[in-house]
Amino acid sequence: METLLLDTNEISRAAEIIKNGGLVAMPTETVYGLAADALNGRAVAKIFEAKGRPMDNPLIVHIADISQIYPLVREFPEKARLLAEKFWPGPLTIILPKSDIIPVEVSAGLDTVAVRFPSHPAAQELIRLSSPLAAPSANLSGSPSPTDVRHVMDDMNGRIDAVIDGGECSVGVESTVITLASDPPRLLRPGGVTLEQLREVIGEVVLDSAVMNPLADGQKASSPGMKYKHYSPKANVVLIKGTEEDFLSFVNMRNDGKTAVLCYEEDKDKLSLPYICAGRENDYDEQARSLFSSLREADERGFETVYAHCPDTEGVGLAVYNRLIRAAGFEVIELG
Ligand code: TXA
Ligand code: MG
Repeated sequence: METLLLDTNEISRAAEIIKNGGLVAMPTETVYGLAADALNGRAVAKIFEAKGRPMDNPLIVHIADISQIYPLVREFPEKARLLAEKFWPGPLTIILPKSDIIPVEVSAGLDTVAVRFPSHPAAQELIRLSSPLAAPSANLSGSPSPTDVRHVMDDMNGRIDAVIDGGECSVGVESTVITLASDPPRLLRPGGVTLEQLREVIGEVVLDSAVMNPLADGQKASSPGMKYKHYSPKANVVLIKGTEEDFLSFVNMRNDGKTAVLCYEEDKDKLSLPYICAGRENDYDEQARSLFSSLREADERGFETVYAHCPDTEGVGLAVYNRLIRAAGFEVIELG
């Protein structure tokens, strides 16, 4: 099929495609999503095929008004109301017990549904003109999420009906995922809304062990997505723990033409091998925004190995750490 490239004046065309059971990639503030009508199981099934996504990995339902959540869930507890009021629209996904209208393709057989109200105006307009939308990130399963329309075309051209070009995503990593279907609430995936911010609004929130660590053999994932290798470029990503000085001398010994460094702006001039800039050292928002396009750039430039200094885990840094450690397949070298 030919994939139509639409601009943000043509969202009504995209809405027609959705209403006819087709697939449209849409910009959101986090990453581009691959959207289908969330209440049409057959349309949703096409998402799995286009991405090569395992069928047991459930999807997030996107809404454009808080009232749209009520028919989707069995209960809407006080903590959900507090989080929605504070962080919606925005990069937060809330998991609740699902209602009967959620197709099995969306929930992948679980008894819960994940819901998000994105802030991107193009996503909101598409939802308003069509319906609530099921949408995973618009990449081939396993590769880095797309933060620009070019990344979507690289992965999805010819596999989906249309893409809306909404420019670069402002957050750059996928939404924070919290489940309120367990007590106490549990953070399943860190993102632009931080653990610290969630705790300020609803008190205790448990950090799921899979955020920082690999699943142990036989351990059941709280979120099916945790099981799969993720965000991986073709290049071998390796995280390095140690002081900045040790990190720089380690990488500077590895200038073999096939190796690059994911480095902070401040360190560029101290390197004697190719680098991809990951933003300033203390600017976690900037690091999040550029992370996935840096991983894609590593492949475009043909590097076989990419070393990255292990980031701090406070604030949005936790989201950067979580994506990088998965990109690295949990391969970490400790120096010193
Ligand atoms: O920012 C985002 O969340 C983007 C944009 C497009 O909105 N979407 C996104 O979707 O990242 P996806 O499918 O790539 O990641 C959704 C994650 C997966 O790890 C999935 O397993 C988990 O959320 N998930 C979805 N529904 C769930 C549920 N009912 N229970 C537990 N985990 C769930
Ligand atoms: Mg994804």
